[in-house]
Amino acid sequence: MSQAHNPDDWRDRFPILAETTYLVNHSLGAMPRTVFDKLQAYAEQWATRGVRAWGEGWWTAPVDVGNVLGRLMNAPENTVVMHQNVSVIESIVASAMDFSGTRNKVVYTDQNFPSVMYVWEAMRRQGARIECVASEDGIGVPTERLLEAIDEETLIVPISHVCFKSSYLQDAKAICERAREVGALVLLDTYQSLGTVPVDVVELGVDMVCGGSVKWLCGGPGAGYLYVREDLLDTLNPGITGWAAHAEPFAFEQGAQRFAPGIERLLHGSPAVPALFAASAGYEIVSEVGVETIRAWSVSSTESLRKRMLDAGFSIPSPSDPAQRGGTITIGLNEDENGPAFVSALADRGILVDHRPGAGIRVSPHFYTRAEELEEFAASMVELREKRSWRDFLNQKGSY
Ligand SMILES: Cc1ncc(COP(=O)(O)O)c(C=O)c1O
Repeated sequence: MSQAHNPDDWRDRFPILAETTYLVNHSLGAMPRTVFDKLQAYAEQWATRGVRAWGEGWWTAPVDVGNVLGRLMNAPENTVVMHQNVSVIESIVASAMDFSGTRNKVVYTDQNFPSVMYVWEAMRRQGARIECVASEDGIGVPTERLLEAIDEETLIVPISHVCFKSSYLQDAKAICERAREVGALVLLDTYQSLGTVPVDVVELGVDMVCGGSVKWLCGGPGAGYLYVREDLLDTLNPGITGWAAHAEPFAFEQGAQRFAPGIERLLHGSPAVPALFAASAGYEIVSEVGVETIRAWSVSSTESLRKRMLDAGFSIPSPSDPAQRGGTITIGLNEDENGPAFVSALADRGILVDHRPGAGIRVSPHFYTRAEELEEFAASMVELREKRSWRDFLNQKGSY
C-alpha cells in the first residue's frame, strides 16, 4: 500500500534524480542505473562472441524480452513480441485486417495518439470506414457514447487506455465487453498506462495490447510491445512482415511468406537488440516496485497536486476522479500565457515537465517522486504566474 511506499528507497537507482526534479515520466521515464550494465553486457557479448551472439540470445530477444514485459500485464508466456514502436505495431496489425466485407469499421476517439490515427486513416484505401468519436470537453469521450459506436459492422477498436493529452483513463473492460458482444477486436494502446495503471490482459479479455517503454516503464526508446490473445494468433497473417516471422527463417525459402505458428508470426526483420536489453532494466525495476504500489502512490501524489493547483487558481483539464485518470495531471494556463515559456523557466530551475498545445503543462510523478518535489513545482508555477506576463517570459526568461 502507498503508506509503506517510500520514494527514497528507489531514488539512487536513477542517476538523473540527484540533479533534477523529474516530473516528465509521461514523456521519458528516468533511466535506471542498471541500463549501464545491460548495455555493457551487450557490448561485451558482441565484442567477444561475435556472430555467435545471435544464437546466444540476440535472435530470440523480441520474445524473451516480451516475456519479461508480459509479466507486468499478466500475459501468458510467449504471447508478447517486441518491435520498435507503436506506429510499426499498429501498421502490422492493420495489415492483417480484411476490410473487404461489411464488417469494415474502425472505431476510436479523437483523443487517440495521432500516429495511431494516421495508420488507420491510411486503411481507407483498403476499404476501411473510420468512425472517430469526438470528445465534447477535450478530455475524453463518455464510455456510453463510445460503446454506441461499436456495432456489428465494427472490425476493430484501436484505442488508448489512457489518453495522452488529458490523462483520461478509458473503461477498457467495458470496451472489451462491448466489442466481444458484437464480434469486434480491440487493440488497446497501453503506452500511457502500463507501469503506472494496473493492466491485466486475462481479466480484461482483451484481444491485443500495444505500447512502448519510453514512459512509465523507464525502458528508453526502441522497445514497443505487442500482446496477442493466444487463440487469435493463428488468424493473423500480416501483409507487413519479414523473414523473422517465417516458420523457418534460416531455410531462406523463396516466394510467399509461410508464417511461424506462434507469436513469432508477428515479428518483422532483425531485432533492435540493444534497445530491447536496455528496456528490460526498466521492466525489472517496475516489477520489483509493483504496479499496484505505483498506482496507489501515483493517485495520492496527483490528488495532492491537483488540489494544490486548484487552490492556487489554476485549472486542471484532467479528469477530477482519480479512477478516470492515469498518472499525469495537466495544468491549464490562461489564454495569454505561453506554455513553452513556463516549461523553459521551470527547466532553468531544474524542474522537468512538458507542454501540449490545447491542453497545458503535463506533470507526472512516478514511484521515485517525493511530495516535496511536487510542492517545489507548484510553488514555482505560482511564482512564475505572478511574476511576469507571458511576454516577459519570452523576453526575460534568463532572469528566472
Ligand atoms: C498513447 C500513445 N501511443 C503511442 C505513442 C507513441 O507511439 P510510437 O511508439 O509510435 O512513437 C505515444 C507517445 O506519446 C502515446 O502517448
